[in-house]
Amino acid sequence: MMKNLSKFVLIFGAMAMMACGDKKEKDTEEQTTIGNTSTEETTQTRQVESEETSDSDVVEITIEGNDQMRFNKDEIRVKAGQTVRLTLKHVGQMDKNAMGHNWVLLTQGTDISEFGGAAVSAKDNDYIPEGTDQVIAHTKMLGGGESATIEFEAPEKGTYDFICSFPGHYSLMKGKFIVE
Ligand code: CO
Repeated sequence: MMKNLSKFVLIFGAMAMMACGDKKEKDTEEQTTIGNTSTEETTQTRQVESEETSDSDVVEITIEGNDQMRFNKDEIRVKAGQTVRLTLKHVGQMDKNAMGHNWVLLTQGTDISEFGGAAVSAKDNDYIPEGTDQVIAHTKMLGGGESATIEFEAPEKGTYDFICSFPGHYSLMKGKFIVE
């Protein structure tokens, strides 16, 4: 916002200088040139800044869960070092107590069945076992029509499992999260 604003002020300033150039034409030309030069410099500066704080290291992923107890993806690929901005959408209509969906990324080596079993008794914690060290990232539990976005750093290169930890869902609602 502020950078756009300052560019606007610069451009507006240059226009204003041009507008008042009726009497001092020569001066105005010089002023306009100066104005253009500083605009170019500002643009270059902005490009450098945008490389440093680039959004290209953020990967946006959307995954859906439905009333048929399915994700619409069984594989997600990201690159090591990326920030993952993942949105889970429950595109069904059923209540979260009947057809709840979350997206849970598990550490490598986690036994899905064991984890899913432990999750069953963690209803009060959104079906995430309390104090677990087997979850890299997870969304909250959603009902039909809801969505949630989480952001996390991609773990090191490798293949990871993701599941929905609602009781019984992991057998169908699971997939591979691959960090390349
Ligand atoms: Co589910």
